[in-house]
Amino acid sequence: MKLPFTESYKIKMVETIRRSTREEREKWMKEAKYNLFNLKSSQVFIDLLTDSGTGAMSDKQWSEMMLGDESYAGASSYFKMKDAIREITGFPYFLPTHQGRAAENVLFSAMIKEGDVVPGNSHFDTTKGHIEFRKASAIDCTIDEAFNTGIDHPFKGNIDLNKLKEVLEKYPAEQIPMIIVTITCNSSGGQPVSLKNIKAVKKMAGKFGIPVFFDSARFAENAYFIKSREKEYKNKSIREIVREMFSHADGMTMSSKKDAIVNMGGFIALNSSVLFEQASMYNILFEGYISYGGMSGRDMNALAQGLYEGTDFQYLESRIKQVAYLGQNLKDHGIPVQYPFGGHAIFVDAKKFLPHVPKEEFIGQTLAVELYLECGVRGVEIGTLLADRDPETRENRYPDLEFLRLTIPRRVYTSNHMDYIIAGLVSVFERRNEIKRGLKIVKEAPILRHFTVDLKRA
Ligand code: F0G
Repeated sequence: MKLPFTESYKIKMVETIRRSTREEREKWMKEAKYNLFNLKSSQVFIDLLTDSGTGAMSDKQWSEMMLGDESYAGASSYFKMKDAIREITGFPYFLPTHQGRAAENVLFSAMIKEGDVVPGNSHFDTTKGHIEFRKASAIDCTIDEAFNTGIDHPFKGNIDLNKLKEVLEKYPAEQIPMIIVTITCNSSGGQPVSLKNIKAVKKMAGKFGIPVFFDSARFAENAYFIKSREKEYKNKSIREIVREMFSHADGMTMSSKKDAIVNMGGFIALNSSVLFEQASMYNILFEGYISYGGMSGRDMNALAQGLYEGTDFQYLESRIKQVAYLGQNLKDHGIPVQYPFGGHAIFVDAKKFLPHVPKEEFIGQTLAVELYLECGVRGVEIGTLLADRDPETRENRYPDLEFLRLTIPRRVYTSNHMDYIIAGLVSVFERRNEIKRGLKIVKEAPILRHFTVDLKRA
């Protein structure tokens, strides 16, 4: 008998959420200037803005919170985190930071200078932001298949080796401080990178003497996809796959708010003692002393425990299958989504969903607003608003894909919630031909504008 997938946990504590009326949502959306970041969480029924820091910690993680050691230096919590990182990733050196972008800030301060180029697979916006802030450029070498949501490819996060080679040949090694492989690749739809691709990237990088770093926020979900889609790894455990993945990197940055299932935290892990020393200086400057780096002892304890739980096969299976349940149901209704489904979210292809809205009027954001008005579900635009303007021309950058991301927090929502989301989005889909106009910018920041932008109806 084949049993259906089910959540790999039961609920010990609950938080009330309330439904609202369409009239209330119309009013709130207008007050929020059509920017979903401006909504109060109490105005949201199901919150799919992000899977970052929004997961539910386990009873074991909460117990670890009570055991936190808040000593400034040499806390047992620091050693617990160090041991967990060493055991799971294999890296001997690590620096705690308060979140993922802080890890990027510290590492890039030590490694990236003006004029550098950093190839990778669709760098996440904070990663790109930290590169461009240093007047360096991020070069996207993702495979072309990633940009066509209709094409089935098991590893749409993969780096195109020809594109990478071109960059490595074009620029001198001194100008390429690192290659960044994002696992899973958030910007292309939570898409995994295969171990075959990881190995090939490392081999090519080695020939050119360039180090490889992983942006590892969702490394465990990446390992699950390798286990389920790359046949050589079918019989390996998640932990074995994770160790093998990281054995092909020189270091990693981590937003622990994702696969370490904590509400706040991050780290850098490294092989090189020299780089560790250089980065330590910036860690002390920006984050705090190297044995806490912006984290409380209790948070480091919960993070260490979360790394073990986040790499548990049964947990990962129920998480990824919940996301796929949402994706499959939307797909069955004819809704265009990035396929295969990613690990942490369903990415709805907004250009295909709303064919009448002009690209200058922010198609992904328009769809996010419509979904919220329909049913109180808050998704997030991954499109033109997020892509910011070109730093030189100041023109809008129009990415190949314009998405509405429905991001699923870890261990928070049930299948009934998924059914509610499906019904809401299907209802918008049924009236998609009536949606002809989008939004206009009233006010925006020069960088990372999507967080604070003010919009109005076009
Ligand atoms: N790298 C990736 C791949 C990410 O998805 C994120 C954050 C970061 C780095 C930065 O980490 O938020 O801890 O500073 N992604 C969140 C998201 C915000 O909603 O996808 P952070």
